[in-house]
Amino acid sequence: MQQPLQQLQQQAPGSRRAVLGLGAALLAAQIAPARAEEPAPAPLPQQPALPPMKVLRDDTLAYEFEYPAETAAGKPLPLLLSRKPERYSSAAPLTADARQRIVCELADLIDAVTVSVTVGPPSGILKGRTPDQWTARQVAEQVLIDRSTARITTGQRVSLNSVEEASRQERDGLPYFVFEHVSQGSPTLRTATLETYRHALAVTAVRPGLDGSPYLYTLNMSCPQELWGDLEAAFQRGVDSFRLLPPSSKYVAPDQDPWRFF
Ligand SMILES: *[C@@H]1O[C@H](CO)[C@@H](O)[C@H](O)[C@H]1NC(C)=O
Repeated sequence: MQQPLQQLQQQAPGSRRAVLGLGAALLAAQIAPARAEEPAPAPLPQQPALPPMKVLRDDTLAYEFEYPAETAAGKPLPLLLSRKPERYSSAAPLTADARQRIVCELADLIDAVTVSVTVGPPSGILKGRTPDQWTARQVAEQVLIDRSTARITTGQRVSLNSVEEASRQERDGLPYFVFEHVSQGSPTLRTATLETYRHALAVTAVRPGLDGSPYLYTLNMSCPQELWGDLEAAFQRGVDSFRLLPPSSKYVAPDQDPWRFF
């Protein structure tokens, strides 16, 4: 049976809470603009201009990334916090066993663009191996499998994700796994009744929790397929900028105070 339109809209990414309220707007206003760059030499004519970016930094789980402020066509992209950064123990669970959780989410509901950070322990094939033995494709597939499970448990349509590219990189001596993927069958707000494709670029980094076992930190930037050409360069820059920060006194490891939900 077809789901009614209203319900599909409520289940669209990032729309579970009212995100366009004053609170979200105020929070978004507090996000610092991207750091001023060194004065650059005059760009060569064939180089595309760097997309304007903003920075989000969370000291609780100690990560930072840039996200686009505009499309390549120069259209503003009003990404607002739909879930403000929070500790792992208080974040919304993604799966029934409540291990992968969305700890931060930005959404532009008009353009159906979402940026999210999820945190959780590795599962499946990754579990029996150490991170230096993981391939980028294994990480990509495992993270995506965890998300599909979430959709089944919430009654949403299963989204078939296909990994297009996956590569392993080193940043500050730690492994980062970058992967591009396309998912099918996620209705967007703009074309709620049509079968659509979403195109996404993600990066997963690894850091041990208090007990020394690894936790995955995944930044995911996604948009409807028809916006991909306009956003790919900015998503690439955002994914390249993702860093786990040296923990400060504000850091709360994912497995610290698991009972604490505030
Ligand atoms: C990224 O977001 C899209 C759209 O919400 C989703 O289909 C995909 O599974 C997500 N990928 C990851 C790695 O979280």
